[in-house]
Amino acid sequence: MNELHSSRGGWYDLPTGEHKGFWPAGRWMTDDGCVRSIGGEMTMDLLQAIDVRRSRRKYLPTPLPEATVAALLDLIAQLDAKENTRMELVTDNGAAFEGLRRSYGMFTGVRNYVGLIADRRDPLSFEKLGYNGEIVNLTAVTLGLSTCVVGGSFSRDACPFALSEDETVACVIVIGEADDKPSVKESLVRGAMHRRSKTMEQMTDAAQPWPDWFRDGLAAVQKAPSAVNRQPVTFSLIGGGVATATTPASDDPLMPVDLGIAKLHFALGAGGGIWQWGSGGAFSR
Ligand SMILES: Cc1cc2nc3c(=O)[nH]c(=O)nc-3n(C[C@H](O)[C@H](O)[C@H](O)COP(=O)(O)O)c2cc1C
Repeated sequence: MNELHSSRGGWYDLPTGEHKGFWPAGRWMTDDGCVRSIGGEMTMDLLQAIDVRRSRRKYLPTPLPEATVAALLDLIAQLDAKENTRMELVTDNGAAFEGLRRSYGMFTGVRNYVGLIADRRDPLSFEKLGYNGEIVNLTAVTLGLSTCVVGGSFSRDACPFALSEDETVACVIVIGEADDKPSVKESLVRGAMHRRSKTMEQMTDAAQPWPDWFRDGLAAVQKAPSAVNRQPVTFSLIGGGVATATTPASDDPLMPVDLGIAKLHFALGAGGGIWQWGSGGAFSR
């Protein structure tokens, strides 16, 4: 299982340990906590990326900078090797989002995305992709990019992946530059999907008072992306620095993706720890 060490407001050793190498030491954090690019003066960590990330659906034609592509490819290779996932970066190819029919009119200008390719033989594949994909998603945000996880509004057949018969495209993470301000249509789509976030009390059966790490973990999960913003994951507090995460029983393959994403957010918010895979899996600090 991925191991993630972090300290609030500080430095991250990502699950692979090597990710910090993308930036010169000391350039992860700023006092005001904002970052734009790997070449820029300011940097952001993944916890800060949680705060600024919003799903964006209208993209500018700006190509991804070479250094960004290299950084993402490097991260993807490390994460894939660690958990035996398959993520693939597609650049300058919007075929899967072209045409009203394919994107259901929701996305415009998509040129770049990361395919999360699941192995149907591995029952944990979708969850692992959710977890690792969210590291890629948040990292893209730290690089100044806009993103959206997409499980429905694209054409799987038009993705340029060579799939084995056991593989399927679980979902993709669109990345690219977007206007600072969301367009009117983007705001409408977001408004339609984005009901108010669940309260922390709705996400757990644990009685108050909660330890700080548990509350901070839940707060980070509140800001996690989930399919149609359903926020399906609930958390229990076992005590002694241990929690569990559970999803409702469902045949929806995006449910375990939501679970993996929520686990990653919880671990970042809680200040690091180790998750066991699966619904009901335990987190220990
Ligand atoms: C697994 C998954 C699948 C998603 N599929 C779509 C999709 O098909 N179309 C879309 O417009 N947004 C999709 N989203 C984005 C969600 O609608 C979005 O995360 C949610 O509304 C919360 O908004 P936020 O990401 O801005 O916080 C998906 C998100 C996840 C995690």
